[in-house]
Amino acid sequence: MSEDGVRRAVEVLERGGLIGLPTETVYGLAADASNPVSVARIFAAKGRPADHPVIVHVAEASDMPAWAIDIPDSAQRLAAAFWPGPMTLILKRAPHVLDAVTGGQDTVGLRVPSHAVARAVLAAFAAGRGGRPAGVAAPSANKFGRVSPTTAAHVRSEFGDAVDLVLEGGQSDVGIESTIVDCTTTPVRILRPGRITAEQVSVVLGSPVAGHAAKAQAPRVSGSLDAHYAPATPTRLVAAGELAMAIADEAVHRVALLSITDAPFAVHARIRAGSDPQAYAHGLYAALRQLDAAGCDVILVETPPVGGEWDGVNDRLRRAAFGSGG
Ligand code: TXA
Ligand code: MG
Repeated sequence: MSEDGVRRAVEVLERGGLIGLPTETVYGLAADASNPVSVARIFAAKGRPADHPVIVHVAEASDMPAWAIDIPDSAQRLAAAFWPGPMTLILKRAPHVLDAVTGGQDTVGLRVPSHAVARAVLAAFAAGRGGRPAGVAAPSANKFGRVSPTTAAHVRSEFGDAVDLVLEGGQSDVGIESTIVDCTTTPVRILRPGRITAEQVSVVLGSPVAGHAAKAQAPRVSGSLDAHYAPATPTRLVAAGELAMAIADEAVHRVALLSITDAPFAVHARIRAGSDPQAYAHGLYAALRQLDAAGCDVILVETPPVGGEWDGVNDRLRRAAFGSGG
């Protein structure tokens, strides 16, 4: 990461622009979280409903009190265990936090990313703020409801000139969005599963956690809307044992297949994602984009195993299937 890139990114943030920011989860569409005009530009570019809150990214866990009040012990412990890293903590908001950032709720989502480029930008942005709260609001850099970006090229193709600067940070390591933990309740609640599992959270806290509610009523977490992370091509989940039959049923159609198994199938396009949940998540969005672009009539996805380490992947696949087909 060049110092020049960091400097230009901070300049863009300071003058109210938008940057494509690489993080270890997915790329973010980032702006100064304290500037209402900048935050409005994020919503306009994404086509995102105004009542959906965005995550504030900060340089250090010690920045929490600049954005949140009544920080519970659970949050301190999760921050100590998992930051910098792919976890977002929901906390009671400090009074200055913009309604546009919180979606008008009394909470704020905070995250300290671990990606070296994100860390460098956040640190340099903070250094220029002279002690005032320094936070970067960044939802995933995709149009609302579509597949999240894991490369700089995805961000450019999605937003073109609507984003002022896209930083190059390689392919995002984790590949799916951060685990969101609501620390305003006891027990804490997983609002969105990710690489960090409910079990890991529970081990750190030494107490049980409330599960990931499959269907929240209000869009507290926009990922909780069913139509999300979705390819334009109709996408269906198929159990491993039913793949051959499902492909035969689609005989007149062009089939794209995302499989765990290596077994041979006659399909038009195929990606083997393998049986390791972290490697699967790492490649998931790029795979969905590639299969979506393969000109097929349907994308069939072999249903992964269930359980802890697969929660994040299963959550994204279920939504991708539900929201697919436009
Ligand atoms: O990994 C990530 O979290 C990525 C990278 C860029 O950091 N960001 C991301 O942002 O996934 P976004 O906006 O696509 O998803 C953030 C989720 C949304 O579903 C939003 O509703 C939820 O976080 N969220 C943010 N603030 C919240 C709050 N105060 N209460 C409840 N949910 C919140
Ligand atoms: Mg998103």
